[in-house]
Amino acid sequence: MILRTGQFTFPTPPAQLFGREAPLMLEIGFGDGGFLTDWAARHPDWNVLGVEISPGSMRRAFGRVRRAGLTNVRLYLGQARFLVRNVLPLRSLSLVYVNFPDPWPKKRHQERRLLQAPFFELLSTRLADGGALRLTTDDAPYFSFALEEAEKTGLYRIEVTEPPPETLQTKYARKWQAQQKPIYHAVFTKQAEASDPFPPSIERYDVMHHALLEGTLPALERFEKLVHAFRGGHVIVLEAYRTLDGTGLLFLVRIEEEDLTQEVLVEARPKDGKVLVRVLPFGLPLSTRGTREAIRCLTEWLETQGMRLAEAFF
Ligand SMILES: C[S@@+](CC[C@H](N)C(=O)[O-])C[C@H]1O[C@@H](n2cnc3c(N)ncnc32)[C@H](O)[C@@H]1O
Repeated sequence: MILRTGQFTFPTPPAQLFGREAPLMLEIGFGDGGFLTDWAARHPDWNVLGVEISPGSMRRAFGRVRRAGLTNVRLYLGQARFLVRNVLPLRSLSLVYVNFPDPWPKKRHQERRLLQAPFFELLSTRLADGGALRLTTDDAPYFSFALEEAEKTGLYRIEVTEPPPETLQTKYARKWQAQQKPIYHAVFTKQAEASDPFPPSIERYDVMHHALLEGTLPALERFEKLVHAFRGGHVIVLEAYRTLDGTGLLFLVRIEEEDLTQEVLVEARPKDGKVLVRVLPFGLPLSTRGTREAIRCLTEWLETQGMRLAEAFF
């Protein structure tokens, strides 16, 4: 039920993720998963995909969907924009729900809002003909902002209506209703498509990069966080550990590129007289420019520790 970044091709046919062809609904920011679970149970003929950036919400929603015994749901922990742009094929979405998105009220944070003109343009290419996004929010400024941003693109028919009863049942809907706050709803139906097809923004490789070094791995008496910037992102090596058998090192690495963040484990371990530095398959990471740069960063660090590069596959 949980999708891993490394299993995606760009794009990925949804039938491959769900094991069947069916209309596709996407919920962005599913929170505790209550809405998604109820919706999927009431629409067994739909494939239901949820995307959420909070690991805690992902855990709660996963438990809920599992307890409900649903087989038509897939969940992805990550950024909505990454999924829509890189993974979802052209015209693959029939319906998108955004319930109570983070409003980012401060002027200097407005660029973090999801529903901006560039996102509406991108979405117009991923929505099927007649497909729609349904927005429900308690935040009047964000609501007007989203309407204006969609209007600007000229790609949608916009209807402001009463919220459908099911979107008034989400955790945040109940919280705001308890405080007597008004709730706003709009349906953005695709009328035309942006001319840019928005090709994938992330470079993806079929092989994982690695390196072979000569010499002895450092003792690791003290390790300080490493930061390595590259065009389009950066790599942060957060921690280093010695493996239990004492022969190798493990590094916890965070890689941020575009709308994709991956936390991966990189191993440096003796192999056939040399030391192999590679990304472990743990968590099924995606091979990208960022994972390649992680290998480069650690290889360069090991060189500063007295090791020599024998062969580079990065
Ligand atoms: C205010 S909560 C609403 C949760 C839920 N929809 C509800 O109504 O109870 C907003 C949710 O959107 C998630 N979120 C924010 N930005 C996101 C993004 N770019 N991609 C996916 N999820 C996101 C947050 O982690 C949070 O769970």
